Amino acid sequence: MPFGIKFKGEEKITPRKELLPMRIDNFDKLLEKGGVERGSTLMVAGGCGAGKSTFCMDSVYHSILEGERAVYITFEEQASKLRKHMLENFNWDMDKLEKENKFALIRSDPFKIARSVEAFLAERKGDLLVEVQEIQLPFTPDRIIIDSLSALSVAFMGNVENYRYYIRYMFEMLEKYDSVNYIISETTSDPGVYSRSGIEEFLSDGVIVLYNKLVGNRRERSLEILKMRCCDHVKQLVPFKLVSGKGVSIELSKEVREEIAGWK
Ligand SMILES: Nc1ncnc2c1ncn2[C@@H]1O[C@H](COP(=O)(O)OP(=O)(O)OP(=O)(O)O)[C@@H](O)[C@H]1O
Ligand SMILES: [Mg+2]
Repeated sequence: MPFGIKFKGEEKITPRKELLPMRIDNFDKLLEKGGVERGSTLMVAGGCGAGKSTFCMDSVYHSILEGERAVYITFEEQASKLRKHMLENFNWDMDKLEKENKFALIRSDPFKIARSVEAFLAERKGDLLVEVQEIQLPFTPDRIIIDSLSALSVAFMGNVENYRYYIRYMFEMLEKYDSVNYIISETTSDPGVYSRSGIEEFLSDGVIVLYNKLVGNRRERSLEILKMRCCDHVKQLVPFKLVSGKGVSIELSKEVREEIAGWK
């Protein structure tokens, strides 16, 4: 395929059904098995500023500290801005981890991918030559973040058929590797629909929704594990905070602890 994600050296890796913790403060306690399976793709959905990028980077940063490697593919935010914000806000020095070859931040042009998919589908009908548009990864990662589906879908400029084709292909491609994948989806602030084409949440192994709801005259953050194929999980909304110098902070309320206690 001309628009895949390629790993240097290695091609197909059979997913090991090993569990990896998410390593976000208290989050693993919300999962019966305490982590997610390698090879799973998780959709992280939420409105603007809900904390999607931070949530994923928190998981990745703490996983790198435990000896893993990760890649962040961004279709939108300028890579330098993302690095700067993560360092200034949460004290995560992604630049240092990049230099140590444990992390890679890759900016990919979604319009080039969209054009490439279009050309590929046209060629199948006997038309054009296909422009090569592969995302080359510098190493085989344990975690991959894709930020975001929304930026990608905009690039397809209303061609839902082509977008769906690419999404299916992307999920199939990610499934072949044994990384834990985070696909960020931008939604309205209180979503009833979690993705642009509606198929992404069905293709995902897990869906995590981040809310930033207006309560009275202020916003309160909470998260919901809407789906997790690998195990049972907390079903209620769990409040969280974004804390300077720390990242995601999840305090387990009495209700949440009771739900967890119910599994045993
Ligand atoms: N130092 C900080 N302490 C606490 N909260 C912060 C800090 N810095 C930023 N934030 C909060 O984090 C929010 C942005 O988080 P993040 O970028 O992860 O959200 P997002 O869902 O990815 O947003 P977008 O839709 O723009 O991609 C800001 O709007 C702000 O409320
Ligand atoms: Mg973001």
